[in-house]
Amino acid sequence: MEADLQDGRRETVTPRLLCAEGEIVEGAGRGFVFGADTTREAVFVIRWQGILHGYRNECPHIGAPIDWPENKFFDNAGEKLMCATHGAVFRPEDGYCIAGPCARRSIEPIEISVEDGNIFWLDEYG
Ligand code: FES
Repeated sequence: MEADLQDGRRETVTPRLLCAEGEIVEGAGRGFVFGADTTREAVFVIRWQGILHGYRNECPHIGAPIDWPENKFFDNAGEKLMCATHGAVFRPEDGYCIAGPCARRSIEPIEISVEDGNIFWLDEYG
């Protein structure tokens, strides 16, 4: 898939299948890993207030995965994302850190789309 950039160049967007949309229920999420070692990329998708959001699974503090145990991204109240390593707290809707050692920084969002009931990560290569 290609898209036009504002400067006239074309970029290649590689849709990567994550899962069926129905697998991500309200207030929960799921992580995905592509590649290994130096090419490893980890992302996750959550559903919050009916909307799907995608992020890289790397805490802005030291880059640790957000989830522990696997696929648990929300705090016990189910209202905020919480990093398992040192407890940073993030808003689900935009990944902004509101408390913890990386306050005022954000989890990097990823672009996702839903096609034919499946969620894709629109990974970009310029
Ligand atoms: S690695 Fe997430 S708060 Fe430290």
